Amino acid sequence: MLKLVVFDAYGTLFDVAAPARRVAAEPQFAPFAPHCGAVARDWRQKQLEYSWIRAVTGAHADFWTVTGEALDWALDASGLGAEAGLRDRLLALYREPDAYADVAPALARLRAARLGTAILSNGEPAMLDAAVEAAGIGGSLDAILSVEAAGVFKPARAVYDLVGQEFGTAKDEVLFVSANGWDAAAASGYGFATAWVNRGGAPRDRLPWLPDHELADLSGVPELAEAG
Ligand code: LAC
Repeated sequence: MLKLVVFDAYGTLFDVAAPARRVAAEPQFAPFAPHCGAVARDWRQKQLEYSWIRAVTGAHADFWTVTGEALDWALDASGLGAEAGLRDRLLALYREPDAYADVAPALARLRAARLGTAILSNGEPAMLDAAVEAAGIGGSLDAILSVEAAGVFKPARAVYDLVGQEFGTAKDEVLFVSANGWDAAAASGYGFATAWVNRGGAPRDRLPWLPDHELADLSGVPELAEAG
């Protein structure tokens, strides 16, 4: 019996490509516009790579630090490392990212069904608080869980353990929802029921575990959770 729906944050609730898209439309950053797609892609990819390497080696730093370091790489790769004000502007927008339009309705329906709701994210507490506040969804969440309490990034099992520690739930009472295929797969391996939100129509990750469900967006999550 499902009691709790736990969401990944970046890529799942918050659009990680939005900061680059917004800056590309700002006249003072015109040189950035042709590089918008490459920077957004490199920024996210390096952010995740750095998080995994830090997790494997035990060299933890918080996700805000990793996000800044990944952006430095992405800007250098596009020859934009010296562009005045660009780094700060992108990071300021990352601090208050756009939430996807399907987030608030899904959370509202889950609460109406009396299911618990939470975030479990690599994000450090202050950046998660800022993002949740900007999206206006704090009132629809029972907890915002950060990997900082475990001192290691996903997909270390110690991170998924934070859910049971907070709520006293058994693994099979939790539906974990992530747009990151590797996160949904690893959470399946951990023992959660899982839904992979495949927003971009990506191929399935070739990992030892499969997500239980694949959805195009968050609109199908309440029905799934209510059926569970
Ligand atoms: C998170 C990363 C994986 O929010 O997007 O945990």
